[in-house]
Amino acid sequence: MSALTFLALRRLADGRFHSGEEVARSLGRSRATLSEALKLAPQMGLELYSVRGRGYRLAQPIEFLDAGAISRELEGTRIQLQVVDEVDSTSTRLLERAAAGAPSGTCLAAEWQSAGRGRRGRTWISALGGSITFSLLWRFERGAGHLGGLSLAVGAVVASSLAACGAERVQVKWPNDVLVDFRKLAGVLVETSGEAAQGPSVAVIGIGINHRLGEAALDRIDQPVVDLAHCTREPPARSRLLARVLRDLDAALDRFAREGFAPFRDTWRSLHAFQDRNVRVSPPGEAPFEARVHDIAPDGALLVSLADGRRLTLSSAELSLRPR
Ligand code: BTN
Repeated sequence: MSALTFLALRRLADGRFHSGEEVARSLGRSRATLSEALKLAPQMGLELYSVRGRGYRLAQPIEFLDAGAISRELEGTRIQLQVVDEVDSTSTRLLERAAAGAPSGTCLAAEWQSAGRGRRGRTWISALGGSITFSLLWRFERGAGHLGGLSLAVGAVVASSLAACGAERVQVKWPNDVLVDFRKLAGVLVETSGEAAQGPSVAVIGIGINHRLGEAALDRIDQPVVDLAHCTREPPARSRLLARVLRDLDAALDRFAREGFAPFRDTWRSLHAFQDRNVRVSPPGEAPFEARVHDIAPDGALLVSLADGRRLTLSSAELSLRPR
């Protein structure tokens, strides 16, 4: 997107009509240039009306993130937040910064990701102003092999934060999807590097939360999803929500660094959507099979049993689980 597109959208953010001539003049551009810049809006999941004699109006107001207010809420934490309008993927950028030595607590949030990544090579689809997308870099003294339960711990923290912000019936699906009524509310992508046994190691934790997805974004998503607008009485302001999740993550990651997954296990179990349920397990590149979910192990692996009574421990985050 062009910088002009974002400048213009900020002028239109209140969801009221604005004359094209006035917006163009205030930005020092011609009406034709403004019109070209706004043609990009639908690509970001926005519905924009253009009415002769009245101007432009967004179907939904956009509540842009307030980086200053969020950073004030984060005082006393290790998190250093940067908010950008657009990036391909906040996780891709933070992986680069991690390799270049960026400190623990570096956080990048984007209003719009042009190439958001999900687990198992999927695309993460969001909408400008309708999602929260950010990544957080965290460094650990222990080796990457000790970070097995990290993605589950993060999933449980995000689920608890969203519940504290008013989301109802929030659950988790192994390893770290956040669900409401078996529909995905938030996704977590944890990418680690460093030697397995010897520390140090680094994790880039990418989180996407569906805040108020419009029809355009919903049409492009090929799995059951839900947004906060549909599972809260009043969805929290985006900036407040991001500040809350980041504060909770700061405390949780500090604890995980000292104690591992153990202190998060009971919370995770209490939120477990598939506990004692029959599921279809699809390991990458292998035939799917049916199993019954029993529990999660102390290291975060999923414990299931097969029809013949055999017990299996599943630990690859690349496999997919579907309810039966
Ligand atoms: C999943 O459930 O598949 C994980 C989704 C993770 C999406 C977030 S959005 C912010 C960060 N940047 C990305 O490209 N992906 C993660």
